[in-house]
Order: sequence, then structure tokens, then C-alpha cells
Amino acid sequence: MARDDKFASIIGSEQAEPANIVIFGASGDLSKRKLLPALAHMHRWNLLGPHSRIIGALRNNWTKSHWINYVHDQLLQYFPDAILNPRSWQRISHKLDLVNGDLADPEMYQRLAEALHEQGGKKNALFYLAIPPSWYECVAKNLKAAGLADEADGFRRIVVEKPFGMDLQSAQDLNQSLQHYFNESQIYRIDHYLGKESVQNLMVFRFANSVLEPLWNRNFIDHVQISVSETLGIGYRAGYYETSGALKDMIQSHLLQVLTLVAMEAPLTLDADDVRDEKMKVLRAIRRISVDQVKNIAVRAQYDAGNAGGVDIPAYRDEAGVAADSNTETFAAVKFHVDNWRWQGVPFLLRTGKALPDRVSEICIRFKAPPQTLFDLHDGNVLNNELIFRLQPDEGMLLSMTAKQPGLSTDLRAVQLDASYGMDGSGMPEAYETLFHDVLLGEAGLFSRADEVEESWRIVEPIMKAWAAEDASISTYTAGTMDIDGMQELMHDCEGDWRNLSAKHA
Ligand code: BG6
Repeated sequence: MARDDKFASIIGSEQAEPANIVIFGASGDLSKRKLLPALAHMHRWNLLGPHSRIIGALRNNWTKSHWINYVHDQLLQYFPDAILNPRSWQRISHKLDLVNGDLADPEMYQRLAEALHEQGGKKNALFYLAIPPSWYECVAKNLKAAGLADEADGFRRIVVEKPFGMDLQSAQDLNQSLQHYFNESQIYRIDHYLGKESVQNLMVFRFANSVLEPLWNRNFIDHVQISVSETLGIGYRAGYYETSGALKDMIQSHLLQVLTLVAMEAPLTLDADDVRDEKMKVLRAIRRISVDQVKNIAVRAQYDAGNAGGVDIPAYRDEAGVAADSNTETFAAVKFHVDNWRWQGVPFLLRTGKALPDRVSEICIRFKAPPQTLFDLHDGNVLNNELIFRLQPDEGMLLSMTAKQPGLSTDLRAVQLDASYGMDGSGMPEAYETLFHDVLLGEAGLFSRADEVEESWRIVEPIMKAWAAEDASISTYTAGTMDIDGMQELMHDCEGDWRNLSAKHA
């Protein structure tokens, strides 16, 4: 199959109704790296309605031609195909519009209301808040005051990025204020992990194959590992990361969301609320622990100077903007238990970190070893079957089985049934394309509901509290290694070891 055909077959071809796509923070980092390329890609595949508009809401006092040149330059860097084809660029540039002004100035929203294009008697609008969360309430309030939350003449949807709060209280406050101005059904909380191909495939794989269901429980599964390992350090993001750390940045959001998809029951239908109800049940079933118990289920560490992925990385405490005595964790691993009928006794181990040896994200379902060892074992690990969902790189699935080594002996070896997508990532829709597409179609299944976000904060709060109360300096690991104190102990009741996260299939 040609790359283009593969893409078309993956994303499907349902075109959304035309809409005004308004990006607040349109000259920011997220916008240039992810949002503009995603929209250009969708445009190319005819997934944006023909009369859709991309409206930058900017504080820079730019002219329209400056904005168009800016988008041109960013696409040249992040999605050059859109620019190199002059017809494609011409058609995208005709969709671009802008509104300048201060986010706190109500007049700016009046101008925005006037700038919305009418398509077929409707003024559909999607408001994407690619701005710091401290601005969310102000923007929502002003949108509402300008009549822009009102759906009388078309849909109005607001998209917010994580972090949704920095703890339970602030998440509740944020939800309350957003819900004051918009209905919950108009609010789309993005967790970009849910837009990843393999994460979506997890649902399909689980619920479209009857062969898995009998095995998908405590009788056959020993434990589950969900890992996101990154080679980069925190780079220029100290301002945010110092207030966050690996637990809040990744585990509270992305990794717990992935856990719910592994553990949930089949929803009644694929309607957003049916799916989210099932995910909520999993979150509610996660065992609550006291602050004193945290040391038994969670470890954290911070990177020291080293070399990760071929790049020299300074110690976290020497990164620009990081406090010299910072105890912010750049690695976190947590062992959760889901106390329900299906999962009682099955540990779910979640780990994530920066400045690690390889960039790999995966879910590993490790099955129990066979009850009896009939064969000579030369490699102690080969008897546990593993089902791996690779989120990145090499998206796809692998089933590792044990087979006979060809020859006269009955030596064993691990073999892998490999269902990689084989697309080297290049033809795959980016998570942000999938998510934009769903917002435009009004499909909310891949977005977190308010109660899910709050429940996730409830789950991690004891860990936050325990770590905040620790006097001792955080332990360190050399950048480019995964030598983390205490990590091994988390596996004490699991069969086998932590998976070796290598960018090559392991
Ligand atoms: C973001 C986190 O939500 O996800 C970042 O804030 C992290 O710290 C990123 O690097 C990882 O996303 P991905 O898609 O590159 O795995």
C-alpha cells in the first residue's frame, strides 16, 4: 500500500462541518510544533470543511500578512510538505485569519465574535486554549460574556490542555469555573496520549478479538507495566517542570489514562460517556494508600549529568531555571492495584522519566509462567508470554511466545509475533490530528471528563504529600542510565523483571 493510501485508510475520511478554529496562543510553542502542522495535515487530507478558518488569537499586534508569513515559516520547519506544494500552501493561507488583543480585554472577544465566518447559516467555533492554565478562566469568562459560548448559531467547543490543575483542589476549581461558562459537553480536555494510534488500538484489540477476553484477568496476567521513557532532559521548560515533576506531568494524566484503557470493562456502546463511565470505575477501584505507605509503592529520582541518546545533559539542578536544591523528580515509578473482581492481586507498574537511555513508550501485559517447567531453561525469562503495545517508536503490537530452538535439543527461545504497523511513523496521523478531528466531529470519547481528572488527582495526592514532606535530598541517576534506587523492590511480588526499554524490539 502506498503511504498515502495507508494514511487515508487509517484516519477514515469523514469530513467535519466547517468551523472557525480559533487558537489562543497561536504564536506559542505548542501551536507551531503540533497544532498548525496537524491542521495543515488535515487540510491536505480534506478533513477540514472547505470553508473552515484558522484564526490566530494573538497578543502581538501582528498584521495579517505577518501572521501568514509566520505560519508559513513554522510549517516549513515542522511540516514542509504543506509548503513545498504551492497549491496546498495557497489554499491553507486563504484559511488564515487573526484577531489581536489582550486576553483580558473584553473588546478583543467582541472583535473575535465579528471575525467568525458564517458557513451555511452557522458560525461553528472551536476555541483552543494553547495558553498557560492561569488564563483559562479569564478566556472562558470573556468568551461567555461575548456570547461565544452560546450554541444558537452553531457549535461552540472549548479545548483545554493539561495540566488540569496542580492538585485536587485546583483541578476542582478549574472544572468549576469552566463549567460555569460552558456546559461539560462543550469542554474538551486534551490528553494527547489518547490520540495516539496504539492507545486507540488497545480498545479495538481488546474488544474486537474474542480470543483475548478469557485471558484478560487475574487468572492469566501476572502484572502490567506501562512505561514512558524519554531521552531528552527538561530543556527550556524549567518554569513549568519545577512546579510539576514526573508524577504530575505524566503519571497523573497520560499513564493513568492508559491504565484505565487496559483495565476497563467493555463499554455498552462507544458513546463518550459510556466509555468514560467504564474508565471512571477503574479509577475508583484503584487502591487508596496512606502517606505512610507511599514508600512501599513509589520511587522517585532526579537525573545527574550524563549522556542520553547521544546528547550531553547537565544535572537537573544545573538546568537553567532550576533551583540548586530542587527535589523535583524527573523519574517516577508507582505500583498501583485495581481492587475489583477482574484485577484483584495484579500489580500495575507505571514508570516514566526524562534523560533515560532510549525514547520508548509501551504497555507490557506479562502473563503468568506455565504451571510446570518441562523444558530445560537456559534463559530464566523466556517462559512468561508478553503482549506488548508499542506506543512509540515502531507503533504496533508484539506477542512474545516461547518456542523450540531449531535443532536436536529441546532448548527454548523467545519468538515474537510482530504486528508492527510498519509505517516508521511517517504516514501515521499525529495524536493532535486525531484529536482535532474528533473535537470537530463532536466526539468526546478520547477526552477526559471532569470526574476522571479529579479522581486521578485523588489517586496521586498521597504520593505528592509524602514526597513533599521528605526532608532528605532526592536520589539521583546518571542521565542516559536507568539505575534508579528502589526500582527493583517494586517488582518483588511480580514474575520477571522490568522490561528492558530499548528502541529496538526487545
Ligand atoms: C507532555 C509532557 O504532556 O507529554 C512532557 O508535559 C512529555 O513532559 C510529553 O515530554 C511526552 O509526550 P510524547 O507524545 O512525546 O510521548
